[in-house]
Amino acid sequence: MTLTITPFSGALGAEATGIDLADPVSPEDVAALEAALDEHLVLVVRDQSYSPDQYLAAMRRFGDTMAQHLTEMLMEDHPEIAVLDSSETKVGPDGIFAPVGAREWHTDHTNHKRPPKYTALYAVKLPESGGDTGFANMQRAYEALPADAQADLAARTVVTKIENRNYVSAEAREKYGKPRTHPLVRTHPSTGKKALYFHPGKVRNLEGMEPEESLAFISGLLERTITPDVTYRHKWRPGDLVIWDNRAVLHVAHRDYDPAEGRIMHRVLIEGEIPV
Ligand SMILES: [Fe+2]
Repeated sequence: MTLTITPFSGALGAEATGIDLADPVSPEDVAALEAALDEHLVLVVRDQSYSPDQYLAAMRRFGDTMAQHLTEMLMEDHPEIAVLDSSETKVGPDGIFAPVGAREWHTDHTNHKRPPKYTALYAVKLPESGGDTGFANMQRAYEALPADAQADLAARTVVTKIENRNYVSAEAREKYGKPRTHPLVRTHPSTGKKALYFHPGKVRNLEGMEPEESLAFISGLLERTITPDVTYRHKWRPGDLVIWDNRAVLHVAHRDYDPAEGRIMHRVLIEGEIPV
């Protein structure tokens, strides 16, 4: 088998074929996958089949796995894997129907000091139709802004919180809910490119701004910057492993199917750096 990387578009996303991450993988192929991630930000590895141990071994080639605060959903014998099952959807303590996976554009786990560089989702069970995942290239979104807007945004800092949802236990909220400060525009450690970086649901406030004003600011920023030109919508196939770079990409879950059908994804996070 020969590893082949095929871009989906000029915006972001590429497909990797001719590689089975359950088997031994050469350092050259790992480097090629990492280079593809640096360039395309979302990588779809087709036709994979993993046991939990194989999945974790596959992902550890890219770095250390990190603890996830969705403590209610961690796999019993493999707590580094979160089982995102749409049929487990419940109403949260705030009375909001809180399906697994945020309904808004976001990057993962910004409430951590060293948020994940990569998130991986491995498709275990897909709905008959729907359930796509959207991705946005926030490097391009930033590049498209006028210089004065870029300078204004680059000077801002986000203070985080943890959201009040049923899938985050009180214990996890205590453990992972400490406010963190991250730059609103972060620089990619490998490519030096700058990207807008935030999780709207985990923004407590922007420094120097009240929470309400901060959320309005973030929501306006999303509206202004997420355009068709910077997005890719992934239509899942069985056996897809999708890895994305959280430092440069926002993502969103499309809830256009019956959650009771049971869309099941296994999620692993790979630890990143302190954002700068
Ligand atoms: Fe997410």
